[in-house]
Amino acid sequence: MRTPFVVGNWKLNKTIAESLTLVTELKNQLSAVKGIQICVAPTFVSLPAVAKRLEGSNIGTCSQDCFWETSGAWTGEVSGPMLVDAGATWAIVGHSERRQFFGDTSESVGKKARAALAAGLGAIVCVGESLAERDGGRTLAVVDDQLAGGLSGMDGTIVARLVIAYEPVWAIGTGRTATPGQAQEVHAHIRKRLHERFGATLADTIRIQYGGSVKSSNAEALIAEPDIDGALVGGASLEAADFIAIVKAARGT
Ligand code: PGA
Repeated sequence: MRTPFVVGNWKLNKTIAESLTLVTELKNQLSAVKGIQICVAPTFVSLPAVAKRLEGSNIGTCSQDCFWETSGAWTGEVSGPMLVDAGATWAIVGHSERRQFFGDTSESVGKKARAALAAGLGAIVCVGESLAERDGGRTLAVVDDQLAGGLSGMDGTIVARLVIAYEPVWAIGTGRTATPGQAQEVHAHIRKRLHERFGATLADTIRIQYGGSVKSSNAEALIAEPDIDGALVGGASLEAADFIAIVKAARGT
């Protein structure tokens, strides 16, 4: 039995004060919700204040990235140990916006994932194809390549802290969600690869989130699919009511 895991990826949104307003609302409204794991991913600058506000709650704090070195001359980067120090317990790595706009590759995503895990964080490794890749029939090959890079050098001992997020690029921020069937097909493929990589017993414990225009109206049907174990939510995580509705819909399945 995999506990569903819902993460709100706030991307480049919200000041520290706005972040605190949102998490205070989430903390109050979601305190009684059981049977689901919940996290928010604020910007690096809001993260310490958010983590502090969420102390003692059932909501964790996640970073949106994690650099692969721990310290040194790497202007603009933030490392795993620094994220832990700031109060994060999870890190997203390989988000398609990082791959598209900031040069993340399958190889660098693997380095980031290993660094996050080495620091004691959980790692959410994102994979997903573009529209051209889907239309060209290359979805599974692209996901295979990203997965192979993202999981390189990992062994079964860290699997409890590993999550995969399948996020088709064409569904992110477009309002065009993958159908539950389209998403399940890729999730089942990812699960098969995890079986090959870590063995069936371990692979069956790894959560695979879906992301891309998840809303309260589609969350339940997506998460009802056998290999969809939660959601990585962008736009709809910026409003308390929307995110709360998604968490409740995900828990209901
Ligand atoms: P979206 O973003 O929910 O706004 O489509 C999802 C994501 O990029 O994680």
